[in-house]
Formats: sequence, C-alpha cells, structure tokens
Amino acid sequence: MTRLAIAVLISGRGSNLQTLLDACATPGFPARIALVISNIAGAAGLERAERAGIPIAVVSHKAFTSREAFDAELKRRIDATGAQLVCLAGFMRLLSTGFVTAFHNRMINIHPSLLPAFPGLHTHERVLAAGVRFTGCTVHFVRAETDAGPIIVQAAVPVLAADTPETLGARVLASEHACYPQAVRWIAEGRVVVDGDRVTVRGAIGAAQALVNPPVETT
Ligand code: GRF
Repeated sequence: MTRLAIAVLISGRGSNLQTLLDACATPGFPARIALVISNIAGAAGLERAERAGIPIAVVSHKAFTSREAFDAELKRRIDATGAQLVCLAGFMRLLSTGFVTAFHNRMINIHPSLLPAFPGLHTHERVLAAGVRFTGCTVHFVRAETDAGPIIVQAAVPVLAADTPETLGARVLASEHACYPQAVRWIAEGRVVVDGDRVTVRGAIGAAQALVNPPVETT
C-alpha cells in the first residue's frame, strides 16, 4: 500500500499533530507524516514529532523579509519531501494567496468552532459571550480567506451553563482529536470530492439525529 505523504505545519503545543502521529503509527492507516514544520523554534509539537522519529524543520518567519519569501521556503521544504497533503495544526501564520493556490484542495486546517461561525482567534470566549448552545470543530480545505473553505467534517459540541473558555476548549479539543485523523484518512483513501464550496465524502453516512441542548425533557 502506498501511503499518502503529508506535511504538518505547527506553531505550538501540537496535540492535533499528536493524534495524526498516533493515527499514522496505526497499522493500515493510509497516510504517513513526511515532515513536521514549525515557525517557532521551541514549539512543544516538535518534540512529539522527534519522539515519533519524524523529520522536523524550523522555518522562522522572522528570518524572512516578506510573507511571500517565508511561504516560498515552506513550499520548497514541503515539495522536497514529496508530500501531497499539507495539514495545518495550530499553525499561527497567515498564508499568502500564492501558497494557498499552490496547495489548492491539497491543504486542510482544523478550527475550534463550527465554521463559518466564529472564525479567527479566541473562539471559546466569543462562543460563551454569544450564548450559543453548540460549538464544535471544523476540518476544512484552506482558501485565501482565513478559516474559510470547503468543509470536510464537523463535530457539534454542547456548550454547558457552567463552562469557562478552558472547560469548553477542552471539550472541543477532544472532538478535534477525533475529527482530524478521520479527515486525513478519508482524503488518503481518495473518498473526498470537492465540488465548488461543497465536499462529499464518498461512502460516509450522515448523522441521523438532531442534538438538542439543553435536552428536551420528557415528562
Ligand atoms: C487547535 O484548537 C486548533 O483547532 C487550532 O489551534 C489549536 C492547536 O492546538 N487551529 P494543538 O497545537 O493541536 O494542541
């Protein structure tokens, strides 16, 4: 079996990277991580990759005079590995249009909200302030606009009355860890079809039930 080679871009903790490392270490998983790149030298995720024996690279954005030059170096490193898919996993740099176009439908991101609601930073604080009853996470193909692009999979996560940004964030993160490896698997299996703004996952069965929060009380 030829496994899909992927490059993972991180800036920090790397818990989503860890779920991808773990998935790729599972026998039969159809993808492998060819390279992990961080723009931050001390990112904790780099140690996770090293522990798993995966090549790492630090490409500091500070070493470049323009976003385009930084992105060109990222692309050069990714292309040198033969990676066919780029996974953004807590990568905290905006990417130039040229880079996004070069990886059109070959670059995915995970975001801790139900996009298109709450793009950007500090999602959990804003979710709590808005009083919505559900939030979640989204894995999507990357487009030039931040946190936008065809959606592959989402998890709906209930917001509880006593939640703080931390408790809610932890619940959402657990859902991220379930969704990201699944999205990579689907892509590696060749089951993901992008048609304009919409994605079809061939052979996937849609969830049948509505979630209600707070739950409907039966008397
Ligand atoms: C995650 O919440 C992800 O959705 C967002 O950045 C965070 C990265 O966390 N894009 P980690 O580094 O994967 O632990």
